[in-house]
Amino acid sequence: MAVRNLRIDGDDILSKKSREIEKIDERIQELIDDMIETMHKYNGVGLAGVQVGVLKRIFVIDLYDNNGPIVFINPKIIKTKGKQEVTEGCLSFPNQFAKIIRPAEVVAEYTDRNGKRMQVKAKELLAQAICHEYDHLEGEVFVDKIIPGTMEYMEE
Ligand code: NI
Repeated sequence: MAVRNLRIDGDDILSKKSREIEKIDERIQELIDDMIETMHKYNGVGLAGVQVGVLKRIFVIDLYDNNGPIVFINPKIIKTKGKQEVTEGCLSFPNQFAKIIRPAEVVAEYTDRNGKRMQVKAKELLAQAICHEYDHLEGEVFVDKIIPGTMEYMEE
């Protein structure tokens, strides 16, 4: 396992669309382990492949609860419901936080690291994280969707 280099603000790769994963082979398993390690190293709740320079449709989420890290491969958002106004940040935009409107609930489908197709019904922070990470796969970043004037820059 290894911590991978984070791609940050200003890197063109962040606006590129990721491609489906066809086979969950050893390289993908290694990528998953590295992504989880990288997310934990920077205390993130989510990390997408593109953020470590891999344009594949994969992200990991860890809410630091009993569910542990969840690995989403080739995810699809099936349904969204309602709205929530939340504060958001991103490991690719260090020390920047802003308010954004996200769906209150989402139903998503994904393949787990064992190749099993799963479905999750999520609300609150998990719903927010799934939408945020899914956007990365589409080449979209949260700073383009924020409520204008709400960006705050935090010192480290
Ligand atoms: Ni992000």
